[in-house]
Amino acid sequence: MPPALADALATGTLFPSLAARLPLGRMGKPCYAFSMIGSTQDELRRLAEAGAPEGTLVVADHQTQGRGRQGRRWLDEPGASLLLSLLLRPDLPSAQVPQLSLLAATASAEALTAATGLPIRIRWPNDLELKERKVGGILAEAMTAGERVVHVILGIGVNVNQTRFPPDLARPATSLALEAGRVWERESLLEVLLASLDRWYRRYLSEGFAPVREGWRRAAATLGHPVDAGGVTGFAEDLDGDGALLVRTPEGVRVRLVAGELR
Ligand code: BTN
Repeated sequence: MPPALADALATGTLFPSLAARLPLGRMGKPCYAFSMIGSTQDELRRLAEAGAPEGTLVVADHQTQGRGRQGRRWLDEPGASLLLSLLLRPDLPSAQVPQLSLLAATASAEALTAATGLPIRIRWPNDLELKERKVGGILAEAMTAGERVVHVILGIGVNVNQTRFPPDLARPATSLALEAGRVWERESLLEVLLASLDRWYRRYLSEGFAPVREGWRRAAATLGHPVDAGGVTGFAEDLDGDGALLVRTPEGVRVRLVAGELR
């Protein structure tokens, strides 16, 4: 057992039955669990640079330096969130990294909807939302060499049992608990989330982006609505075959927006 997980299990607070319950696919092996950490992204990047295999998972009960997209902070209430980073090592051109963040959003929305019965939708590109409030987010950070991917770190944060949020958030937030009126067991949610990520990732590797595109479109809250993203304001018409959002501006021009964050 990795020392970090042993440490976490010894505290008795964090995911006590996690190791035994991880799904059989490749996601979550090995698993490093921390009661407190700066950012799971940074820890997994260190592990990735030391040669960790695809599927390596870092989870935490609390982050002191949690990062969101576009340089924003990701705040959590200790013990109340899912905070995880997952390592992928696909043999892909770097230009396809944004597709993996759309895949993560699709897999997460599907898994959390199935597990909770709550209608979780995706707001471009990969915010998870519930009744128009943000309930989770995804940060895909990639290391590339030339035109190829070396690794991708998929960071996923879900507000599970929080009841309070800071007043100055960019968008109104909610949690699964607030919307459902009950507390959720995080291990079960993590289990279904990893199984879903595993399924969608295998499918992507064998069938390409087309099924992910369909899954994303099914779960999307953005299509058919006005958007203000990436410095472009307009009407979100569709997701194209490469994963770009097609936005019609008020001037009638069609713009392609691509998601993604490279480091
Ligand atoms: C966003 O919506 O801005 C993305 C939020 C991603 C947050 C997760 S929590 C686990 C992982 N570690 C981090 O520091 N960030 C991601």
